[in-house]
Amino acid sequence: MPDTSPVPGSSGLGLGLGLRFPHLAQVLDTWPEVGWFEIISENFMDSGGYPRHALDRIAERYPIVMHGVSLSIGSTDPLDLGYLDRLRRLADATRTRWVSDHVCWTGVAGVNTHDLLPVPFSEEALAHLVRRVRTVQDVLERPLVLENPSTYAMFAGATMPEWEFIARLAADSGCGLLLDVNNVYVSAVNHGFDPEEYLRALPADRIVQIHLAGHTHLGTHIIDTHDQPVAEPVWQLYELATSLTGPVPTLLEWDDRIPPLPDLLAELDKARPYIENAAALPVGRG
Ligand SMILES: [Fe+2]
Repeated sequence: MPDTSPVPGSSGLGLGLGLRFPHLAQVLDTWPEVGWFEIISENFMDSGGYPRHALDRIAERYPIVMHGVSLSIGSTDPLDLGYLDRLRRLADATRTRWVSDHVCWTGVAGVNTHDLLPVPFSEEALAHLVRRVRTVQDVLERPLVLENPSTYAMFAGATMPEWEFIARLAADSGCGLLLDVNNVYVSAVNHGFDPEEYLRALPADRIVQIHLAGHTHLGTHIIDTHDQPVAEPVWQLYELATSLTGPVPTLLEWDDRIPPLPDLLAELDKARPYIENAAALPVGRG
């Protein structure tokens, strides 16, 4: 089967972990059995000192993937070329496999909200994002991978569902997709759509990476807190996702109330049967 991925050769990394500051020393001491690490780009692009020293050593032993939160691809502010330059230099230094961010905007008129805000799912916004993705890929000199964020509000003027917007964004811009299965579930509950319909509508061959994470269910809605184990409905969605995509590199995110490294690795290991089953299935069976 030809490799049509936007990041050729990206499959096969297996299970990865988000690299967090409290674990840097232990990773250097123990070199845990994990396929790869994902870093938050902004945590390392401007910092030297011990974190950068640790990252450079870790990057000698593990594949690194960069995940950012400041690209603001959906904003109408001009793209921050200084930020993109710093991103490209970190990508070169870590020999990152790919660079990802979110289908969102984080501010406008120079104001940074530090939130991943939803974009309107309209033709105008789609054309805007496609243009900006192409520019970013040109500047970074590598494919960009974009993630579906969890959302709590939608624009009344949306003319298509989120999954159609993201599928068309990938087709028209050439970007890859980072499928956050937890975010699909969070948004599905918050907005009342069918998460399985969402997964089946995405172009499986554009999905370069999958995220798993925990959330907080408040009864009427869900907050994407990344502070607890992955919920059972999210594991069920992950099983469907991997049956559609095959064994796509999968990462566990945990950003608050971060547990000890062995506990994180144990939670990550719960994904192993799913990814191994997917590797044994013909792609697209789900
Ligand atoms: Fe995520």
